[in-house]
Amino acid sequence: MMHPTRLFGVFLITTMVATAKTLISEQHRVEEDDWTIVMPRRKNQKRKLPKLKHAKQQREQTHWVPTDLETTPERELKLMQKMQISIEKVEKSQFFSVFLDQICTSEASDHFSKITGSENKLKMVIYGIGSIESFESPRLQLSLAILMKRKLDWIGEIEVFDPIISLTESKVLEELGCHVLSVNEQGMRKVVNPILFFMPHCEAELYDNLLKTNWKHDNLNKIILFGNSFEKYEQYQSMFSELTLDESMKHLLTIRPFTKEFKISTVSDDYFRAFQNSCWHFFNVDSDTDLQLLCFAR
Ligand SMILES: C[S@@+](CC[C@H](N)C(=O)[O-])C[C@H]1O[C@@H](n2cnc3c(N)ncnc32)[C@H](O)[C@@H]1O
Repeated sequence: MMHPTRLFGVFLITTMVATAKTLISEQHRVEEDDWTIVMPRRKNQKRKLPKLKHAKQQREQTHWVPTDLETTPERELKLMQKMQISIEKVEKSQFFSVFLDQICTSEASDHFSKITGSENKLKMVIYGIGSIESFESPRLQLSLAILMKRKLDWIGEIEVFDPIISLTESKVLEELGCHVLSVNEQGMRKVVNPILFFMPHCEAELYDNLLKTNWKHDNLNKIILFGNSFEKYEQYQSMFSELTLDESMKHLLTIRPFTKEFKISTVSDDYFRAFQNSCWHFFNVDSDTDLQLLCFAR
């Protein structure tokens, strides 16, 4: 495993620590051994995305409306066409067939059926999809979610939220059969019935908010989470433990021993950026595990 001293300069180390929470986004990559660190790239950004406050400063659940309210039928049509091309590309890809195989035939299927077993349909909640109008990765990620609903009969309604969604994106999402939420939940959805959370390349705080809100064995055991590898977060945390003690990953790191992870295979370069480091996560916590104590002891 790479040691921080092997990195060339304090700047890069600082950047890595800062971006360890995001791990991935649409953007400029610095590769070192088998780690890939990505930093936001503002060049080529087609739409000026609204600036967000840091998740830590923004824990309140608030009513939300899109910041970008400009829309025209042409703009919506253009985006819908881009989405249809993307859905078709994913559907015909080897990436998608390997992805479905993993769900249906591998060891993972036991974990899925344990959670889906008693339910007719599982709701899918998508947080942090990003801008489907400006970037390909969010389009590929959304295509995958939509195709899952089309191909897997146990997936029900899809709800989507990202504070940067524009009115055009919101209308296209609704047309594609997704319900765009009007509340920024900050990832703090309480799980009563099993839910599949599709959170591609979100910040660690958002995963942590979800876990913290459901910090009981029976809630956690009802969650299927698609998102950044928790194992990688743990590795980063241990690599940089002298530099950062990150409160915002406390629940994510505490739940690690009770988490089963299945890594998504990106198969080809076309899908690398959108799905690199993405995993299915399942939690298996016994009723006698004192989660509060474990979290407190960290
Ligand atoms: C690193 S980006 C990932 C975007 C996209 N999934 C990708 O891989 O390129 C994280 C996304 O999380 C979104 N986000 C931030 N706070 C959020 C919240 N409270 N609820 C849902 N999404 C949020 C950001 O707006 C951003 O689009």
